[in-house]
Amino acid sequence: MIQWFPLHMHKSQLAIRKLMPEIHVIIELLDARIPNASSNPLLHNLTENKPYIRILNKSDLADPTINQQWLKNLQKENNYALLGCKDDKKQANRFMQLCKRLAPTRNSFEKPLRVMIIGIPNVGKSTLINQLLKRNAAKAMDIPATTKGIQCLTLADNFLLYDTPGITWPKFAEQTIGYNLALCNSIGRNAIDEEIIAIYLLNYLLLHYPQQLNLRYKLSLAITAATDRLVNKNHKQFSSALVNDIFRQIGSKRGCLIAHGKLDRQKTAELIINDFRKGSFGRISLEQAKPI
Ligand code: G4P
Repeated sequence: MIQWFPLHMHKSQLAIRKLMPEIHVIIELLDARIPNASSNPLLHNLTENKPYIRILNKSDLADPTINQQWLKNLQKENNYALLGCKDDKKQANRFMQLCKRLAPTRNSFEKPLRVMIIGIPNVGKSTLINQLLKRNAAKAMDIPATTKGIQCLTLADNFLLYDTPGITWPKFAEQTIGYNLALCNSIGRNAIDEEIIAIYLLNYLLLHYPQQLNLRYKLSLAITAATDRLVNKNHKQFSSALVNDIFRQIGSKRGCLIAHGKLDRQKTAELIINDFRKGSFGRISLEQAKPI
């Protein structure tokens, strides 16, 4: 079972809690490939029912149809939800305008709007903040008494942005949450076993994206009919022999070998995971949106 909640995250969480009474709008970045797993319950408990915007970030890497389903689901709840993507040059302005609409009385030097950006590690907080900063002359200052660098950035005299460190939470409710966070590079390397994660990913791709898997690695198995081979239909699992065979084929084809032609399993696992992270399988969502 993956768990990853280092001490500095605990301290960051306390710092966020302390600052929260001064905040008017919260922006939570979710990873569009894993909207559920990237939604941090620890942060939700801190937000005191403030206006809350959720951005399904890295939407360019996620399945476009599933993006739309998630967006609808999230919009059905009370929060504002939007798609985000670093290549969308207009999004920074859109997000700023929405924040202003949600706290219309905070619009002067004396009463500046304070917006806090939160999210798990590697979800794209710094990238979004840099986008926001490019449009505005900004100065950064460290907030005293915060242990792990919450920064206050001045976007305009009446608009302050609080940049917080990425945090996870102490106990993931399901194993797949840890796997999905690991696949999206939001968990420290020392907390994961790459081979387990890669095998989990192969199983998932076989089930939901067999063509993309085949296209990437030109496998010799007829994996387009892979769903017929499910050994556990309830848990949607393929036989470990089948998944292992695919794992082995990928490693051998890509030259992940050690002495005497033996498979380098670690290198193979890293290759598969990196292919996913780079988007080499095409646009993949690791969580299917629940019907509403
Ligand atoms: P963080 O502050 O939340 O930790 O995340 P950060 O902005 O550092 O972004 C992490 C990685 O995600 C960066 O890649 C960044 O370019 C990428 N990223 C951010 N937003 C998007 C997006 O909308 N789409 C895509 N495709 N990528 C995005 P990196 O510097 O290459 O780091 P890494 O991926 O090697 O960790």
